[in-house]
Amino acid sequence: MTFELQSPLDMHIHLREGAMLKTVAPLSAGTFAGGVVMPNLVPPVDSLARLQAYREEVLAGVGDAVFEPYMTLFFRNYTREELEAARDHVIGIKLYPAGVTTNSEAGVAVLEEAEPTMAIMEELSIPLLVHGESGGFVMDREHEFLSVYEHIATRFPQLTIIMEHITTASALALLDRFEKLHATVTLHHLLVTLDDVAGGLLDPHLFCKPIPKRPEDRSALLAAALAAHPRLMFGSDSAPHPVDQKECCGCAAGVFTAPIAVQVLVELFEAHDRLDRLQDFISGNAQRIYGLHPPEKTVLLEKADFTVPARYGDVVPIKAGQTLSWSLSGS
Ligand code: DOR
Ligand code: ZN
Repeated sequence: MTFELQSPLDMHIHLREGAMLKTVAPLSAGTFAGGVVMPNLVPPVDSLARLQAYREEVLAGVGDAVFEPYMTLFFRNYTREELEAARDHVIGIKLYPAGVTTNSEAGVAVLEEAEPTMAIMEELSIPLLVHGESGGFVMDREHEFLSVYEHIATRFPQLTIIMEHITTASALALLDRFEKLHATVTLHHLLVTLDDVAGGLLDPHLFCKPIPKRPEDRSALLAAALAAHPRLMFGSDSAPHPVDQKECCGCAAGVFTAPIAVQVLVELFEAHDRLDRLQDFISGNAQRIYGLHPPEKTVLLEKADFTVPARYGDVVPIKAGQTLSWSLSGS
């Protein structure tokens, strides 16, 4: 049995820089036709010159594979001139509240002060991508941030807003309330709950931000993904960290899923008899929402066991050592 996907897209990906980028970029390009590249480098990608240099590095890392890097700028207060110059080079601007996650120290501390830039983004049709977490209790951070989304969506009704990596049923419900509000969801938040991270022995390789939530949250997200909810896109948030920064005290946040995300999604959608919805969830919705024309790329999978490697370079993937029921054709 085989299954074909056309131009799968990963609408939220961390490719890093240097040696790590050389390890992970070809893995994304192995199964995806393009990806939305996050800007939380050190220092952040917050100028057009840095963005263009980073794009070149990504393309060099990808090599001959077909892969379009959709670049993002790190949100700061930009001038109109800066935004006009950047408009044709970015898919959006990623807002991190200061300090909520990896390399977000330079993020936004006072949201009201970000509004003049949002107003220009609305005018220039530049989407706003958001890591939506408050500084509150860890299980409540996303829920507490929903009022911020409501405020921004009300204040800037023409601004395209993407709630990145949603983890709660309440975030999903907000999609119905605002026409220009969209969301990405990761693979790991469709698979695991807080129990898998910390309910038994601690699993550092599942530790991420936002933290996985309750079973009913996962069920709601999974139902929406399996239905290819028209406002929902696949974004892996695959976030590689070297093994010594995961298996230690002070474990870095991030789950590395990029190399097997497509295979696991096929397994998941097949298990729920919804393979017919996967194309929209993994590409069609994103093309429509962002108005993208990704490069043509046919990804062929076959129903054949594939054992997930223990490591890719010095990064441990999700499901390391486990056997998947689908593999990439030819692998
Ligand atoms: O788990 C996460 N890892 N969440 C984020 O928001 C950032 C990411 C990273 O860059 O490692
Ligand atoms: Zn991310």
